[in-house]
Amino acid sequence: MVLDVLTASQQPILGFATGSTPLGLYRVLIEKSHADEHLLACWKRMIGYNLDEYVGLHPNHPQSYHYYMQENLYRHLPVAPARIHIPSAEGAVEENCHAYHALLTETGWPDLQILGIGTNGHIGFNEPDDELQIYTHLTALTPVTRQANARFFDSVDEVPQHAVTMGIGDILKAKQVVLLAYGEQKREALRQAFSGAVSTRCPASFLQLHAHVTIFTDQDVRG
Ligand code: PGA
Repeated sequence: MVLDVLTASQQPILGFATGSTPLGLYRVLIEKSHADEHLLACWKRMIGYNLDEYVGLHPNHPQSYHYYMQENLYRHLPVAPARIHIPSAEGAVEENCHAYHALLTETGWPDLQILGIGTNGHIGFNEPDDELQIYTHLTALTPVTRQANARFFDSVDEVPQHAVTMGIGDILKAKQVVLLAYGEQKREALRQAFSGAVSTRCPASFLQLHAHVTIFTDQDVRG
């Protein structure tokens, strides 16, 4: 599906996610692209957006999502740096959020947005709350998310407290969404997201309002 979108237009726009879940997808994209010259060249026309970034981590920090994207995707493909967009969580964060929104407005939102899901039902870093923000914004990370991501750091204390994330409205503006959720630990979040009412307490449930969502999961989470 990602490669279909990549090859379908003169300026394909892809929305990328980070975390453990999409790593296999990125490996396959790199492999398939290197096996086909035409496919490889298509990456030169792509515009890439990322969902989120931690506040307080320099782009060279191994746990920053800037670093993750370089390491796991971009350095293996012919993508010009000017076509790579990842929220900037350094300096004047509010202004950066506005700039990210302005950029999305100018290019259009992704043709295809890749998503993971948090065990608490978050998508991007849109955490369960009384209200959800529509567009790119600064957010506090919940203890559940910081604990879940502590495995990438020496301790939970090192996991940043804040992040910048595209909003729920941004995600719903993608032409299509591909949600990846594997393993027992994602079962409850998936069940809550897709078998009940829409609730800000389970941000992924808003995907029920989108007309073109594909979920890839495994038997463990079929519920
Ligand atoms: P994971 O994170 O892929 O590392 O499980 C998913 C998420 O938090 O959205």
